[in-house]
Amino acid sequence: MHEYNSGANINHVSLLNTLSKRSSHSDKEVDALTPEKSVAMRGSTAASGTVLVAPGGATPTITMPERKRKRKGDEGVGGGGGGGGKQRHNSSDKNIREYFSKHPSSSPVRHAGAKSPSPQGANYPMYPPSPSSLLPGADFMRAASQQRPHTSVKQDYCLQIQTEMTCQRIQELETQASSDLELRNNKIDELTRTNEELKHQVQAQNKVIEQHKSHINKCIEVVKKLLNEKSTIEKKEARQRCMQNRLRLGQFVTQRVGATFQENWTDGYAFQELTRRQEEITAEKEEIDRQKKLLFKKRPVNTEGGGGRGKRTASAAPSTPQPSPLHNGTDAPTFLKPDPLPSMTYQEYYEADEILKLRQSALKKEDADLQLEMEKLERERNLHIRELKRIHNEDQSRFSQHPVLSERYLLLMLLGKGGFSEVHKAFDLKEQRYTACKVHQLNKDWKEDKKANYIKHALREYNIHKALDHPRIVKLYDVFEIDGNSFCTVLEYCNGHDLDFYLKQHKTIPEREARSIVMQVVSALKYLNEIKPPVIHYDLKPGNILLTEGNVCGEIKITDFGLSKVMDEENYNPDHGMDLTSQGAGTYWYLPPECFVVGKNPPKISSKVDVWSVGVIFYQCLYGKKPFGHNQSQATILEENTILKATDVQFANKPTVSNEAKSFIRACLAYRKEERIDVFGLARHEYLQPPTPKSRGAGAGSGGAGAGSGTGGGGGGS
Ligand SMILES: Nc1ncnc2c1ncn2[C@@H]1O[C@H](COP(=O)(O)OP(=O)(O)O)[C@@H](O)[C@H]1O
Ligand SMILES: [Mg+2]
Repeated sequence: MHEYNSGANINHVSLLNTLSKRSSHSDKEVDALTPEKSVAMRGSTAASGTVLVAPGGATPTITMPERKRKRKGDEGVGGGGGGGGKQRHNSSDKNIREYFSKHPSSSPVRHAGAKSPSPQGANYPMYPPSPSSLLPGADFMRAASQQRPHTSVKQDYCLQIQTEMTCQRIQELETQASSDLELRNNKIDELTRTNEELKHQVQAQNKVIEQHKSHINKCIEVVKKLLNEKSTIEKKEARQRCMQNRLRLGQFVTQRVGATFQENWTDGYAFQELTRRQEEITAEKEEIDRQKKLLFKKRPVNTEGGGGRGKRTASAAPSTPQPSPLHNGTDAPTFLKPDPLPSMTYQEYYEADEILKLRQSALKKEDADLQLEMEKLERERNLHIRELKRIHNEDQSRFSQHPVLSERYLLLMLLGKGGFSEVHKAFDLKEQRYTACKVHQLNKDWKEDKKANYIKHALREYNIHKALDHPRIVKLYDVFEIDGNSFCTVLEYCNGHDLDFYLKQHKTIPEREARSIVMQVVSALKYLNEIKPPVIHYDLKPGNILLTEGNVCGEIKITDFGLSKVMDEENYNPDHGMDLTSQGAGTYWYLPPECFVVGKNPPKISSKVDVWSVGVIFYQCLYGKKPFGHNQSQATILEENTILKATDVQFANKPTVSNEAKSFIRACLAYRKEERIDVFGLARHEYLQPPTPKSRGAGAGSGGAGAGSGTGGGGGGS
């Protein structure tokens, strides 16, 4: 079809070309016959056309120029008259203009056939409108034959033939003209047919397009339906899991406190079981301690040599109390008034002691396992609480029933909820990809100025974010209004939770993986400081670092520019930094001391705020706890000035962390911002540099890159 079309086009074009070439030829031929040129011809036969005067004062007809003959004619007439020969005498004093005025019908007329698509359309041939008058000779012939008696025709012909062209030539021209005309008519017919065919094709194509459109719409509807079903099933499963976990891990229970009700957390049976086992172990430990003390008292005084044989200190009477059974408290009275100490050989004592020691160490191991189990359970509980809250928020959300926003974003599930925003996983039906839709919801009851302030804030976030383009920063695709009180930003979707979620599950991350995360965050920060004007993220924390693959071996992307600051010339001074305008906002565990200084003027900050956050995040990844205020709430951090006192960072012995990593963290957590490394310094820090290639033949094995991660023992990890 396509080939056919293009073929037709080519034919069409070439046909047009052919036609226009031809017509331009004929235009050229008739060009001399335009009124303008006719004027120019007055008094001179040197012009390209020749005026032929029909005998008997007939309307003069202009024929095609034949230069040679014109000259001949000129010679014959002798200067000036304009090529009429003898006949000129009858009308010699009439110039061509007068004829035009006397015979209005012979005034310039657009060629009747109009079939010669002349590009010089303003040049009108002066023939009477007749299809056969495409050539001047034909016209002349007709005029002559109509106006002259038959007898004189021959004479005139002779005259004309002498002065202009042979009859044969005229006939030839006429034949050619009519065949040209026929050809054109054929072509026109052909083009008309082609045109019709093309019209049909266009109609057929439009129909196909319509069919495709409706097909795509059907597909979209099916995708929508399937996604809805999938999402509904997932939601159901999530709720079922939660229900099961409620009993096992715990739940919020509404309790009455005075006149009000409070939601209090109650641990599930898994915790109770672990606690019970822990209590048993403690009791057993105590019992062993008690028996050890007893045994010690029965220790033979005189021990003999390495053989372990000892003298009995008393006769081994059958009544000698043996170590009492463990949980048998009823035996206790027998110890109140002991008989003379039981005799025990050293060997016996040693055996009993060894048993107690082994039991003690088994209990110790059991206790440690229990401890680990408890920690794991606590992490599970944290996730469970997070999921409970998520489900609660999802059920409360006005978008829980899979609406389609902006005619393309199908909302599937709630990912997270912040102060004034909800982030939903969505599917973009137009681009056919998953996205994250962050819905900013204004409170209807807010006063106008608060609303305006919020919108200003959210728009700022949007404007900062949309200008960013870096592989380590979540892309912002779109923004649209939902209604008067809410709007939505559409973000690149990261399938795999945030780092906060991961840390809640795994507590720590091996050094090499943690280093990789830090390296990527620093790369994003470097970009944020290279653009003009640079941007301070100000809210770097595990919750705003997204793991694209859900694990710590893959790529990360930073998100949430809700608190970001633009370091433009108006606000930022390289020597002093910029005013911290929103003191109090942010997540305190991750903010540096300068953000907590209160005084007459707001504190000055710079992108070294983010450097501090990187240090805290790295520490938390490695040690499973925050370096400052780990078990404190935000309120307590403020009350106790925890961060203002964070002059020194302490590293635990376990897990093992390389010295290079520690010195990197120290550089980030330098108390005074003047002494703290800046973003570019961080990017150049030797801990993050690729390993220097080992000398050839040194047996590096893997070609030097990556493996072992030379610098800073990054590869070492735990
Ligand atoms: N692009 C995304 N892809 C996947 N999850 C996201 C995305 N953006 C945000 N989230 C999830 O939603 C949570 C809240 O998003 P965030 O932009 O940090 O909002 P807030 O300003 O409320 O903190 C994040 O912690 C993350 O779990
Ligand atoms: Mg956030």
